[in-house]
Amino acid sequence: MCGIVGFTGNSVAAPILLDGLSKLEYRGYDSAGIAVRDGDKDFEVVKAKGKLKSLIEMTDHGNAVKGTCGIGHTRWATHGEPSVLNAHPHASDDENVVAVHNGIIENFQEIKEKLSKSGYTFKSQTDTEAAVKLIDYYYKKYNLGPVDSIARAMMRIRGSYALCVMFKDYPGQIYTARKDSPMIIGVSDGQTYVASDVPAILKYTRNVYYIGNLEIAKLEKGSVTFYNIDREEITKTLTEIKWDAEAAEKGGYEHFMLKEIHEQPKVIADTIKSVVKKGRINFENINLTDEEMKNISQIYIVACGSAYHVGMAAQYVIEELTSLPVRVELASEFRYRKMKFVKDSLVIIISQSGETADSLAALREAKENGIKTLGIVNVVGSSIAREADNVFYTLAGPEISVATTKAYSTQLVAAYLLAIGFAKAREEITDERYKELLDEINTIPDKISRILEDKERIQWFSAKVAAVDDAFFIGRGIDYAIGMEGSLKMKEISYIHSEAYAAGELKHGPISLIENGTLVIGVNTQPELYEKTVSNMVEVKSRGAYLMGLTTYGNYSMEDTADFTVYIPNTDPLFAGSLSVIPLQLLGYYISVARGYDVDKPRNLAKSVTVE
Ligand code: F6R
Repeated sequence: MCGIVGFTGNSVAAPILLDGLSKLEYRGYDSAGIAVRDGDKDFEVVKAKGKLKSLIEMTDHGNAVKGTCGIGHTRWATHGEPSVLNAHPHASDDENVVAVHNGIIENFQEIKEKLSKSGYTFKSQTDTEAAVKLIDYYYKKYNLGPVDSIARAMMRIRGSYALCVMFKDYPGQIYTARKDSPMIIGVSDGQTYVASDVPAILKYTRNVYYIGNLEIAKLEKGSVTFYNIDREEITKTLTEIKWDAEAAEKGGYEHFMLKEIHEQPKVIADTIKSVVKKGRINFENINLTDEEMKNISQIYIVACGSAYHVGMAAQYVIEELTSLPVRVELASEFRYRKMKFVKDSLVIIISQSGETADSLAALREAKENGIKTLGIVNVVGSSIAREADNVFYTLAGPEISVATTKAYSTQLVAAYLLAIGFAKAREEITDERYKELLDEINTIPDKISRILEDKERIQWFSAKVAAVDDAFFIGRGIDYAIGMEGSLKMKEISYIHSEAYAAGELKHGPISLIENGTLVIGVNTQPELYEKTVSNMVEVKSRGAYLMGLTTYGNYSMEDTADFTVYIPNTDPLFAGSLSVIPLQLLGYYISVARGYDVDKPRNLAKSVTVE
């Protein structure tokens, strides 16, 4: 999705803006632009279609643009094609107001019509231009200054937005406002930064303010003033971001994705340690009591994409360890379903970014229905983290690769810990089983490290199958859920058509797609289901499939069926998904590399999906 960076201070703004935008490239974009102001001179606006590299070259790395106050933007087209004209910043007709915007303004047509009657003209196809001109309209009509004009525009606008606005009459100042689209403000050494995402400013400061929904901020050199939509001044406290700047760099790896795959043992261990103290689960930080866990009667897990796949795997674990029924829902569907919530239920929203529009809407839907909510979230202070009743923070650190790996793995472990915690609080597992599960969960990081040591075999296999057009992932139970994630990893970064099927479903249709050389990956780690899945693998093999088997050490008979077998260390079957997903992440990664794609920034995708 789009990215925003703003700066006002004593340093030259353009290089800081470009550097910040480069840190947001991973979010996905198709054009970029900056607007910078030198004192009270006119705004200098530079925009380019395509990669940020063009904008960097056009401005000589920002050095050709003078001024210490400016805003920048990477645009991911929603309204209007990717073009210089549609790229941000946008300006009012007389360049009195210049702004960048993330989000979608739903009633932009209506606003355009209103403003056209007052003589405004529109150059671009964007919704943003309507917002900029609406602010200009109120600014001139009421003559009560920037905060007033932005507040009036906010009352008129429907949709989501993070806005950074500069006014001709207010040199050195940037005004920001937001609703349902993230934005943080950082202050350090007399300089002030604003960005839509932490990595953009992490290099300069770790002390940030979170601007709330329907709030406005005035940024000046080294200071910020906050207002609510009634233009009253409000106070905010600074929050320290614990992520360090290095965590958002590649650290010697060719791609962020490979680096993040390798970080998994550490971030999983950190996430476990955050709630397992002295051999016991302690949910004090999450604010979840045994009493509350006892009284829950049903769990809904709601999420999008890979986070939804975590929910699919978690469902099997929670249902096996507790008596709680679990429903796993896609947030985009859940939010519009006319369903009655079961009394005393808990809605768990899983989200790395904490800003996914559908997941946030699902959370609000649950809250409006009086249902308790718990977020499993990675980004501290994100909207879902702030609005959920309880938050279980995953400690994955900044995830830059669009395709998630380490955030997914920490979410999965968080879900196991919740399952064990619920089972214990509800007295549904023995003390012995509780200890056994906690001992086993602690072995996951080392077991992942062992799998990573053998990555060259997967690299070799990936090169061999890189030219396939189709792939199928099959498995049963938890293996099916992991297959869904493996399939998504493959399709999103390798652009190979790929599907995941519950192995028992094959005969009901999909098996007709299997022909000579079709790649099939059989995930088969669950002892109780092993023979059944092997039968399904034999069925596709006998129809010509090229078969990769993924199973645990000891199941060597897999080699009688599969053309290539990958083994993972033995663990409790409930946790096998944390291990079996690793070779599948590597498979997606190495195939993408072999096909020569931009692994970290796959086409058409955005890291955090803040629009519907
Ligand atoms: C796939 C991927 C996406 C996200 C999905 C939800 O690799 O990363 O499918 O899982 O967009 O994002 P969050 O977790 O930020 O809500």
